[in-house]
Amino acid sequence: MESDPSVVDPKARKAEQARSLIGEKAVLVPYMREHVPRYYQWMQDPALLLATGSEPLTLDQEYQMHLSWTTDPNKHTFIVLDKELIQGDFVPGDPHVEAMVGDVNIYMNDPSDLQLAEVEIMIAESQSRGKGLGEESVLLMMEFAVEFYSIQTFCVKIGESNMSSLKLFRKLGFVDASYSEVFKEVTLELSMAENSPRKYFEKFRLPSASTGLSVILEVS
Ligand SMILES: CC(C)(COP(=O)(O)OP(=O)(O)OC[C@H]1O[C@@H](n2cnc3c(N)ncnc32)[C@H](O)[C@@H]1OP(=O)(O)O)[C@@H](O)C(=O)NCCC(=O)NCCS
Repeated sequence: MESDPSVVDPKARKAEQARSLIGEKAVLVPYMREHVPRYYQWMQDPALLLATGSEPLTLDQEYQMHLSWTTDPNKHTFIVLDKELIQGDFVPGDPHVEAMVGDVNIYMNDPSDLQLAEVEIMIAESQSRGKGLGEESVLLMMEFAVEFYSIQTFCVKIGESNMSSLKLFRKLGFVDASYSEVFKEVTLELSMAENSPRKYFEKFRLPSASTGLSVILEVS
C-alpha cells in the first residue's frame, strides 16, 4: 500500500522543526509538510512559474520535491512568514500556515565548490510584496549560510525582464557575472571573501536590528 503523503514522519518532523530565523518583518521557518498544499497553490500561477524558472508539478510531485529540499544536505529552504499575519504569538515548531507568504532557498549545486550557493527568493502573496520581506529574507538566509555553511560566494539567476528581482539583488551588492542568450537570464554574484561578512550584514541590516547574527531559534 502506498504511504499517505500528508502523514508526517516523526523523525523528519523533528529535523524540520529545528531552526527558525527571526527578522524585523519576516520569520523564516523550516519548510514543513503542512506548507506543501499552499505552496502547490502558489505554483499554479504561470507568472510565478516563469519568474522562478519552475515547472508545474502535481501535488504528489510537490510532496516529493519537499522531501528532496528537506533531506538533501546541499539544499536549504525556509518558508517566509509575514510577521503581521501571524495569529497570536509566534510558536517555534508551529508551521503558521496562516502567515506563509513565500520561500527562500540556497542550493550548493557545484560539487567542486561547496562554498558557492545559488539563492532563490519568492514572495508569492502579492499583499506582502513591497514591504521589505524579500530583501530581509535574502539577508537572513545569507547570514545563515555564511555562519553555518561557510558560504563564500552567492549567485542568483534572474530572467532579464524581471526588473524587481534584478533591482533587489543589485541593491544587495550582487554584480552581473554572465548572461545566457538561450535562457535570457542574467547571473549575478556576490563574493563574501571580498566583503567582511559582519560589515556587510551591518550595512544592510535595518537600523533597529541588532548587529551580528540574527536571532536563531532552535527547538530541542
Ligand atoms: C522579487 C521579489 C522577491 C521582491 O520581494 P519584495 O518583498 O516585494 O521586495 P522588497 O519589498 O523586499 O524590496 C526590496 C528591493 O527590491 C526591489 N524591488 C522590489 N519590488 C520592486 C518593484 N516592484 N519594482 C522595482 N524594484 C523592486 C527594490 O530595489 C527594493 O528596494 P527599495 O524598496 O529600497 O527600492 C518578489 O517580487 C517576487 O517574489 N517576485 C516573483 C518571484 C521572483 O521573481 N523571484 C526571483 C527569482 S530568484
